Amino acid sequence: MSESATIVDLRSDTVTRPTPAMRRAIAEAEVGDDVLGDDPTGIELERRVAALAGREAALFVPSGTMGNQLAIRCQIEPGDEVLLEAESHIFFYEQGGVAANSGGLAHVVKGTRGALDPACIEAALRGEDDHNARLALVCAENTHNRAGGAVVPLESLRLLAAAARAHGLSVHLDGARLWNASVASGVPIRDWAAEADTVMMCFSKGLGAPVGSILVGDAALIRRARRARKRWGGGMRQVGILAAACLHALDHHVDRLADDHRRAHALARGFERVAGVSVIAPETNIVFVVLDDPSIAPDAVLRSLASSGVRMSQYGPRRLRAITHLDVDDAGVARAVVAFEEACRAAARGSRVDAPQGPC
Ligand SMILES: Cc1ncc(COP(=O)(O)O)c(C=O)c1O
Repeated sequence: MSESATIVDLRSDTVTRPTPAMRRAIAEAEVGDDVLGDDPTGIELERRVAALAGREAALFVPSGTMGNQLAIRCQIEPGDEVLLEAESHIFFYEQGGVAANSGGLAHVVKGTRGALDPACIEAALRGEDDHNARLALVCAENTHNRAGGAVVPLESLRLLAAAARAHGLSVHLDGARLWNASVASGVPIRDWAAEADTVMMCFSKGLGAPVGSILVGDAALIRRARRARKRWGGGMRQVGILAAACLHALDHHVDRLADDHRRAHALARGFERVAGVSVIAPETNIVFVVLDDPSIAPDAVLRSLASSGVRMSQYGPRRLRAITHLDVDDAGVARAVVAFEEACRAAARGSRVDAPQGPC
């Protein structure tokens, strides 16, 4: 049996392997040269996602990071400010790309469960004085990864976007997991997309494709993003090979995200029963566990889990993350719960044995 068949890998929803049906779709893809504008499968994917999002155009990109960074590059001038949630992926995990790729200044504000308060826009504006940087772009994230896969409510995004527009600012939505937000809330992708100038969505996370993300927006902006993508080395040739996997994911892997959400709840219920830990209630496919008991060391838990064939990741000094996805079934969830309970018990026991002993 292959390693992937025996390991319950909850580190991320990016670890999925293409299913046999997806591999067939890849093998049979009709391809051309996308840089020359004639890869039919790449064109079909961009057309289909633009329509799904109710926007004029779309651009296929190799990664969510490139999609986010292109959106920023196309909507600010060097020296402009970008308003970001303090725990957003763009601020936390994109290597200062706002500055490095676009010459922008990150203005970060703490949100609530990932949602920015629209009042923070007014507070961030500093007037026309020539000393000041100009706030040009507001970025939101949905679902919000570091807020535990929280769904930022549509109404909250609407109010944020309205406040941004009232001041002539653009809005970008990092929707790496917008599919999860849509399935969990029942709100169609196009309703979220209507609130932003640009939206980035990933196929390589819950949808289970090996590679690929997409940026949607109006035709002129996507044209500029296409040029910038080429300059950044992201022009791909027989891109239909990748796009076929994404089209297959759109056909077969969107509705099933509800199974991932159900399994995340099952994981959370199992983890909650373990003494000394608390769980941040999941809304989608991400479960955060906080090791409240100081005698349970995160690295010891992760090591013990790994020895039972279960992988999770550390997300803060005392916080672990588990994400459900296409390659985790009900049996995997049950195994992870048992392994987690045992790992916490063993870690607590170990720390008591290791604790310095006083004079007897
Ligand atoms: C919210 C969010 N945005 C963007 C990204 C970046 O995607 P990629 O890893 O494809 O660059 C991620 C990756 O996990 C993410 O979680």
